[in-house]
Amino acid sequence: MWRFSVLILLFSHLAVSSSSLGDSEATCSGIVPLPNRNDRISITDFGGVGDGRTVNTKAFREAIYRIQHLKRRGGTLLYIPPGVFLTESFNLTSHMTLFLAKGAVLKAVQDTWNWPLIDPLPSYGRGRELPGARYMSFIHGDGLRDVVITGENGTIDGQGEVWWNMWRSRTLKFTRPNLIELKNSKEIIISNVVFQNSPFWNIHPVYCSDVVIHHVTILAPQDSPNTDGIDPDSSSNVCIEDSYISTGDDLVAIKSGWDEYGIAFGRPSSSITIRRITGSTPFAGIAIGSETSGGIKNIVAEHISLSNMGVGVNIKTNIGRGGYIKNIRISNVYVENARYGIKIAGDTGDHPDAYYNPNALPVVKGIHINNVWGVNVRNAGSIQGLKDSPFTGICLSEINIHGSLNTNRTWKCSDVIGTSLKVSPWPCSELRTTGGSYSCSSTF
Ligand SMILES: *[C@@H]1O[C@H](CO)[C@@H](O)[C@H](O)[C@H]1NC(C)=O
Ligand SMILES: *[C@@H]1O[C@H](CO)[C@@H](O)[C@H](O)[C@H]1NC(C)=O
Ligand SMILES: *[C@@H]1O[C@H](CO)[C@@H](O)[C@H](O)[C@H]1NC(C)=O
Repeated sequence: MWRFSVLILLFSHLAVSSSSLGDSEATCSGIVPLPNRNDRISITDFGGVGDGRTVNTKAFREAIYRIQHLKRRGGTLLYIPPGVFLTESFNLTSHMTLFLAKGAVLKAVQDTWNWPLIDPLPSYGRGRELPGARYMSFIHGDGLRDVVITGENGTIDGQGEVWWNMWRSRTLKFTRPNLIELKNSKEIIISNVVFQNSPFWNIHPVYCSDVVIHHVTILAPQDSPNTDGIDPDSSSNVCIEDSYISTGDDLVAIKSGWDEYGIAFGRPSSSITIRRITGSTPFAGIAIGSETSGGIKNIVAEHISLSNMGVGVNIKTNIGRGGYIKNIRISNVYVENARYGIKIAGDTGDHPDAYYNPNALPVVKGIHINNVWGVNVRNAGSIQGLKDSPFTGICLSEINIHGSLNTNRTWKCSDVIGTSLKVSPWPCSELRTTGGSYSCSSTF
């Protein structure tokens, strides 16, 4: 029996390494086929001037109005030539490609006084930062399908500094704008674009499905507040691959609504793959939460390479959130110079108001983290569940977190049940080290 188990272990390890080799080539970006647009127009046809001073709002709104109303078969490509095109925020429409040539820059005006407001998201009940309405994203879409934002690595620049300063001086009246928000939309591709200096979150697909984001670069200073990279929110079938993200907040954060509003709205985030992401941030690399009230399930993140980090992998929720976080598989993570390697916590994030239900406890179940290599990580890990809702099925395997001289080699664990195999430093007795049978290996 003993020999037999060893054989199974050995076999499962061989399976692990061959599948991880295979995964480095795997891709999910085919879930949305790239449409071919025969109809092409340029922003200059609508009076657009790329001199960095002319405000081109009218040109963008007219070009998009034309795409929306002429409805050319196969959709229309809107070409942005090299140049700096200053504009106010604008809405996209269905069946269009926004194509940024090499050297094209779409730059947001810094006119915070006249920035349009839109309703809060029902799953948040209010703006994420402040009660009431919120500023519309720089590039916005609601109820769209078949939208592509791509090109030759042109730039979408939010000029967020003015907004960050308002946050710092507490003079914001409403929640800051995202750089791009697509709501209730499907069949979306975002690729080969540089996003920089977003006022708030960079890319926010909310209530969306079939979204592919690949070969994007997202940049914001490390001290810019809340400049999350990509936040899939109450969305399904999302594929995020081959991107570099360096911002002032979480690089990729999967969300699904906030406390009583998110519970009532009840829209989960599911079937999300995150692969081959590289980056830096003082916050988390791969984050789940903390707004998880609609539930989060079936998430795969692999081949993630992080340096100069707050936390490598961070799963975070809170009392009042309700919902669940389940079937999460994270593997092949390299993390260098970080405060924490792995952090799973049930006490993170704020509440929308005083009406959240303190008995609405999240269920966290089935988190498999495999193959993590840490270098110069100050605290190996911390897993703290909730007393009345312990986190279960937390499986760690093949994890090596190396520190520096002042490294804390003690994991902090509470209210957690799970297993560990080949984890160094040794995690904690709550994650009982598996003997002959290893219940998590089959899932990798
Ligand atoms: C853009 O979309 C928002 C939200 O859907 C809407 O409130 C606004 O009127 C639209 N703006 C324009 C210029 O079409
Ligand atoms: C754009 O950037 C991506 C990601 O860095 C890179 O893979 C791609 O080759 C670049 N494309 C062009 C046309 O420069
Ligand atoms: C190391 O971690 C343990 C457990 O979390 C904690 O009790 C201790 O204070 C930490 N030590 C340092 C030096 O941070």
